[in-house]
Amino acid sequence: MLVSAKEMLTKAKAGKYAVGQFNINNLEWTKAVLLTAQECNSPVILGVSEGAGKYMAGYKTIVGMVNGMLQELNITVPVALHLDHGSYEGAKKCIEAGFSSVMFDGSHYPIEENIEKTKELISIANAKGISVEAEVGAIGGEEDGVIGNGEVADPQECKQIADLGVTMLAAGIGNIHGKYPENWAGLNFDVLAKIQELTGEMPLVLHGGTGIPAEMIQKAISLGVSKINVNTECQLSFAAATRQYIEAGKDLQGKGFDPRKLLAPGFEAIKATVKEKMELFGSVNKA
Ligand code: 13P
Repeated sequence: MLVSAKEMLTKAKAGKYAVGQFNINNLEWTKAVLLTAQECNSPVILGVSEGAGKYMAGYKTIVGMVNGMLQELNITVPVALHLDHGSYEGAKKCIEAGFSSVMFDGSHYPIEENIEKTKELISIANAKGISVEAEVGAIGGEEDGVIGNGEVADPQECKQIADLGVTMLAAGIGNIHGKYPENWAGLNFDVLAKIQELTGEMPLVLHGGTGIPAEMIQKAISLGVSKINVNTECQLSFAAATRQYIEAGKDLQGKGFDPRKLLAPGFEAIKATVKEKMELFGSVNKA
């Protein structure tokens, strides 16, 4: 059964580790993440962007697929199904469809409007035991056509949003989605420390997990980050493994064109990336 992200993140914050959110794109992706979580005995959050939601034929399709896998694959570790960077309407749809967690990304609204909409969604979600992530300070880079500037959040605004009763808070601290540029300034730990000081027990979320050096990840966890989102890195390892298979001409040998064979190296590559991240985040054996 899907669970809200609340309990797993409260435990992570107290235990000084982070739970990974891995974005999913299709059946292979979902199965790879779930099986790895089970093998690592780790809690996990499956992230679905609105674009990925459309691609996978809608939120209800995804809920059906994930719930089916939890049963058929005997997944017993805590799993949350989470809308990533949701709009107000998207978040409502996911709550209806059976997601156990939603992010409302109101970071592009003026703070008053972000607060109003976040409040409404919290009351709808709370009634159903669904966790809510809010965002202050847009995360830079490009994701599904949404482009942010890598802002650094205002700690006072973070406190204002945290006080509304959100489950977890994403705050921009110079992190961006996708690959980091050569001249990236790194995470802003002074701001992260200030946010943690003002928001106390609130689990903090680090977006843009791809390509952040291990020491920075560990430092961020020590300063209150309890959820780390990873998307691009699984896509890169899937693509590299698939390219290798094709370039080696394996699709032309025997039944190598069978999708179950063609997609197998990419599937294994996602599993390896997810395992590596769970080890780095410290969530192994924390189910
Ligand atoms: P990356 O694609 O950089 O790993 O970021 C993922 C993310 O933050 C999803 O919200």
